[in-house]
Amino acid sequence: MNVLVVAGARPNFMKVAPIMAELRRREHEVALVHTGQHYDPSMSSAFFEDLSMPAPDYHLEVGSGSHAEQTARVMERFDPVLAAVEPDWVVVVGDVNSTMAAAIVTAKRRATSPVRLAHVEAGLRSGDWAMPEEVNRVITDQISDLLLIHSPEATGHLLREGVPSERIVFVGNVMMDALFDVRGRHAGDAPWEALGLTRQAYGLVTLHRPSNVDDPSIMAALLHALDRLSHDLPLVWPMHPRAKHAIARDGHTLPAGLQLIEPVGYRAMTAWLDGAKVVVTDSGGLQEESTALGVPCVTVRASTERPITVLEGTNRMVAWPPTAEGVHDAVDAAIGVGRSAGSRALSKPAGWDGHTAARIVDALEHSPASLLARVQPASSG
Ligand code: UD1
Repeated sequence: MNVLVVAGARPNFMKVAPIMAELRRREHEVALVHTGQHYDPSMSSAFFEDLSMPAPDYHLEVGSGSHAEQTARVMERFDPVLAAVEPDWVVVVGDVNSTMAAAIVTAKRRATSPVRLAHVEAGLRSGDWAMPEEVNRVITDQISDLLLIHSPEATGHLLREGVPSERIVFVGNVMMDALFDVRGRHAGDAPWEALGLTRQAYGLVTLHRPSNVDDPSIMAALLHALDRLSHDLPLVWPMHPRAKHAIARDGHTLPAGLQLIEPVGYRAMTAWLDGAKVVVTDSGGLQEESTALGVPCVTVRASTERPITVLEGTNRMVAWPPTAEGVHDAVDAAIGVGRSAGSRALSKPAGWDGHTAARIVDALEHSPASLLARVQPASSG
């Protein structure tokens, strides 16, 4: 097979790394397109190093912009690559703008090419249409030939949206392949020591969703909550550029007990997470990674597209809209249950076993051409 894999933003890299490695191991022809949605070294190249990924074969360098600009730039620049490579498969992962843009381009190429589109992490739904990721998920799933899912409720979401069941394949969670590999290779990392902290005696914070950081009243409530928390537990926040811009723009004051650090690569992030007493986050990936590592997690969002992390893992949603009190209570409760909740998570949700990339490549190899999401030509008139 000739496979073109697309990644664009930080949460994509740990998903494509194991898939690329498995495709190469089986001697398929594979190339990586990096759209350049994320471009800072700490948001992009650090991940390539930590995940031992070769440099991208194509770099589209789309950079930042509005949703429309970013999506349009990926579409314009991905189309000629697709035309030149003529792959059997395009593989997209996750729910970022680059995912949807590359998916749309691929779907439109079907008219003239036998290319097929596979979406890894298909079928997740938050039900929150204000999230740009929700739009990206639904559109990408509708136009994919093969929907590779990792959470049982994804099947119901997809069937309800009219996706034929033969296009849906449960493969498990490919992020776990990367997580177990990196944790296995770097179990001794202790990045907290450089800040004078000790294992299990700090909280990790990551907040970057527009619905949190770009809303001044929500951000103020969250900073108030973090201030209260930091009286009992030192907090560390590797701050995403979006949050940094929003805090400067809106003139927020940061709590004294909160240590800001630059965004960290994958290896350091998994170590920070593994050593934390609790994580307070709005990231999708961290909800899953904390469940896998048994770290108590408090998610600051109105809803989650990853309910399995609440049902079978260590995740807990704050009451919405967030108040200092509500966040504080959720963190208290999470810490109270503690890492023992991790013993529940040690059994881990099904398919979170570190072997998902192999099942993804199996699915690509064995998908019959009949899975093509081709629409029959409409009758003229
Ligand atoms: C994107 C994804 C989100 C994911 C997040 C992880 C979409 C719709 N959202 O959101 O799902 O959780 O990535 O990080 O695709 N910036 C930099 N350097 C970079 C990248 C971004 O400074 O390397 C700044 C830019 O000013 C940019 C802002 O951060 O405007 C937001 O970046 P963007 O990629 O548009 O969205 P994210 O908020 O990162």
